[in-house]
Amino acid sequence: MTPPPMLDGPHVAPAPLRVALLGLGTVGREVARGLLTCGSRLEQAANGREVRLVAVADREPARFEGLDLRDVERVDDGARLIGRPEIDVVVELIGGVETAGRLVAAALEAGHAVVTANKALLARHGADLERLARAHGTALRFEAAVGGAIPVLAPLAGDLAANRIDAVRGILNGSTNYVLTSMTEDGAAYEDVVAQAKTLGFLEADPRVDLEGRDAVDKLAVLIRLAFGVWPDVTAIRRAPPALDGRAQDHAKDHAKGDGPPGVTGVTAALIEAARRENLVIKLVAYAARGDDGRIAAWVLPVAVPAHDPLARTDGPENRIEIVGEPVGRVAFVGQGAGGAPTSSAVLGDLLAIARGEGSTWAGLPQAPTLAPDRLVDGMDAPRRWLTCDQTGGGGDKGGNADNGGGADNGGNADTGGGAITDRATIDELRARLGAARPGAVLFPVLEGS
Ligand SMILES: NC(=O)c1ccc[n+]([C@@H]2O[C@H](COP(=O)([O-])OP(=O)(O)OC[C@H]3O[C@@H](n4cnc5c(N)ncnc54)[C@H](OP(=O)(O)O)[C@@H]3O)[C@@H](O)[C@H]2O)c1
Repeated sequence: MTPPPMLDGPHVAPAPLRVALLGLGTVGREVARGLLTCGSRLEQAANGREVRLVAVADREPARFEGLDLRDVERVDDGARLIGRPEIDVVVELIGGVETAGRLVAAALEAGHAVVTANKALLARHGADLERLARAHGTALRFEAAVGGAIPVLAPLAGDLAANRIDAVRGILNGSTNYVLTSMTEDGAAYEDVVAQAKTLGFLEADPRVDLEGRDAVDKLAVLIRLAFGVWPDVTAIRRAPPALDGRAQDHAKDHAKGDGPPGVTGVTAALIEAARRENLVIKLVAYAARGDDGRIAAWVLPVAVPAHDPLARTDGPENRIEIVGEPVGRVAFVGQGAGGAPTSSAVLGDLLAIARGEGSTWAGLPQAPTLAPDRLVDGMDAPRRWLTCDQTGGGGDKGGNADNGGGADNGGNADTGGGAITDRATIDELRARLGAARPGAVLFPVLEGS
């Protein structure tokens, strides 16, 4: 019998994975804390490879305080750490698009692996960054960009890769879900809840990013890349419900005329009450599906969700993401969509995956091209049931657009004949039938199936 081969020599510990962390804000501080205080747990999970924080960057020196950074280099500008041979991975947690984009691109070109939580950057420059990462043979991971703490992107690209993905839907923005939940459960007025959400730190520095649905469409774009293998033009994804008369005011500079206010900015107490009477709950839902013709239908809209649907029961800052595919059926991912500590879980998980040599978030999936503009639709031309509600008045200063196109009794928008469920009809049919009689009314889709 042949003896087993001899193992040659004593065990040699793998070289540490050396991490530079850019941005010590809400998420960055928690990632730093994890790297500094949970070393042995992380090392075990990385097949015995140490994950070592070697450098941090933040513009504000006070952000270094309260962390044990004795053996860690500190700089005031992330750019100073890019291209250094003693750094393996750059973690970008500064946010924003321009500077962060330059730093991430430079890091990939220099051969660093990159971890980022930056959905705004990925939604706008994901195709270019993916090309760069592949061209330079480096890993780009971004689990925290969608759903904060919730592991959904790596499972979508990996565990679910055997499926034909048909649809993705979910509640992707905890701040707006908090606003809608408070309005629904406490009968609170929009302005009061938004003010409260600001105080609690639930809203971005520019609240329009959340309230107008921009954050949710960014996340949806990233989901579309992994579910359908294309990077969509995020600015073309619908995030305002259609107006009944088709001539409504231009509610946001970058939004189409003929639409109501974007995101949750047109949600009023009257709309929520009208929904409740029909056993429906208003939620800001993100949706994308691939049609038989290969086109992608995508939108982020306030929709009327049947009260029994799990999306209707996703409350407060919680997120829920559902993937529908063949043969898996429907799977759901639920958890904290934001917050420094929960989100650090996803960033640290990406670092462990890089330490284990698992590559990019897209795993073995082929390179994703940019989706041709005519392949992205909003699917709103199909007949469906709608909740019509006379607008507006829910939002006060809803991001700087003063003209809300109708009654301005903020928060107390009396039900002046709105709040009716239509039969199954197209927008055009309803406009022809009701448009003239209901100027200023907005059509909120009633969610059906997936
Ligand atoms: N917060 C969450 O719950 C959450 C959840 C999921 C994903 N994310 C994403 O994670 C990223 C970080 O979010 P965050 O909430 O942690 O942001 P944050 O609290 O604003 O922290 C960003 C930090 O980076 C610093 N910074 C900006 N530019 C810099 C540069 N060039 N060099 C060094 N430091 C720089 C900022 O300093 P200044 O304050 O001086 O600008 C700030 O301290 C964003 O992309 C965000 O979308 C956040």
